[in-house]
Amino acid sequence: MDSGYDETLKQLMDDFHSSIDVDRRLFRVDIRGSIAYARGLVRIAVITDEEGQAIIQGLTEIEGEIERGDYKLTRDLEDIHMAIEKRLIAKIGPTGGKLHTGRSRNDQIATDERLYLRNAIDEIITLITACQQALHQLAERTIEVIFPGYTHLQQAQPIRFAHYAMAIFSELERDKSRFSDCRKRVNILPLGSGAMAGSAFPIDRTFLAQELGFDGLSPNSLDGVSDRDFIAEFISHCSILMIHMSRACEDIVIWSSTEFGYITVHPRLATGSSIMPQKKNPDAAELLRGKSGRVIGDLITILTVLKGLPHAYNKDMQEDKEPLFDALDTVSIGLSVFTALWQSMAIRQDRVTKSMDDAMLATDLADYLTKCGVPFREGHGMVAALVDESISRSCGLRDLPVATYQQYSEHLDERAVALLQFDESADKRTVLGGTAREAVVEQLAWAKGILGVKA
Ligand code: ARG
Repeated sequence: MDSGYDETLKQLMDDFHSSIDVDRRLFRVDIRGSIAYARGLVRIAVITDEEGQAIIQGLTEIEGEIERGDYKLTRDLEDIHMAIEKRLIAKIGPTGGKLHTGRSRNDQIATDERLYLRNAIDEIITLITACQQALHQLAERTIEVIFPGYTHLQQAQPIRFAHYAMAIFSELERDKSRFSDCRKRVNILPLGSGAMAGSAFPIDRTFLAQELGFDGLSPNSLDGVSDRDFIAEFISHCSILMIHMSRACEDIVIWSSTEFGYITVHPRLATGSSIMPQKKNPDAAELLRGKSGRVIGDLITILTVLKGLPHAYNKDMQEDKEPLFDALDTVSIGLSVFTALWQSMAIRQDRVTKSMDDAMLATDLADYLTKCGVPFREGHGMVAALVDESISRSCGLRDLPVATYQQYSEHLDERAVALLQFDESADKRTVLGGTAREAVVEQLAWAKGILGVKA
């Protein structure tokens, strides 16, 4: 074969399998892992103290070089591990080549990813908490707002807007607990697994775990290098969080439409149209709704990469980082936008009040009949007929004369009709988790406890 072809193929492979454009963001954790590993090698006298010092000094300098952009991470360097090792040898000579003794890039990358993800999870939890704070504040300032609650996108029963805000708060609380739970499985050290069979050097894995702040050791070297469950799990939790955000964003899109006009958000979170001067599109909410598709795509990517892979490491696994980072970045910025939406949300009370259909009080009327001894199913039928009558007369339930009520049940007198008030309907729901003022105040107190806010 001619050398020109060889060069062409080298170039092709560099372009194809180099992962440095993606894994460069692991440089800090890679160096942190290597410094701990160098200490581990000194401990078992595979390298001398002086050699260990030289390696650690070299790695520390390389970190600065990469940070400042002095060391260019070019594609021909293949990946972040090779890039750092190459630079180390160039700086301190052959001693640099001793660092990789008993280690493989297979246990190295698995360690780097876990170190990186551990921090990322902590940051996501902080962002979720900030969003919960915004929701809690929104709930506090909207506790007196009576709002239509929907099922099937039809007005169903009146609720306090704060009750809605607390629903989103609760979803986020579950997301947070999923991430914290996932963190337990992330924070396990695979280093020492070597390529797959375990290191042939008696490296003290417990020492490495202590140095790097891991809570435990992977119990099997094959599994240690081939496990990417923690990434699939993380992206799965990201997907559920994105789904939660997309559903709330859909509410926001609907409620800020011309027809509803219930809410507004900060004008910076909406944009105009290039042609229609009147438009204020709820872009932030729409885009966040759309980005949930992207994160679900990341989940499908990682699951599909892993499906059917033989044990242990396979190069396919290099494809784990793009979905991981993409999901992480999308969720991070998404949470900040989500928070801003709640922070700046204002309710247009006039629009809300005008749109509230008093047929939402039908359940209360049926409940009233039950209290008069009418079996609920019968009461339900009577009130349904009353509602039909109000529809045929194009008026509200409260506009029907008491005489009409009486035709359906003798119990439906002035007193019953007088009870038909939105706020009274809401305040009947005092059950734990209900929408009555006192029940919502309890939820706010629960939220305060979670957020550590002083009562
Ligand atoms: N860049 C590789 C990855 O991200 C590192 C591990 C490579 N291991 C190997 N045996 N080629 O997966």
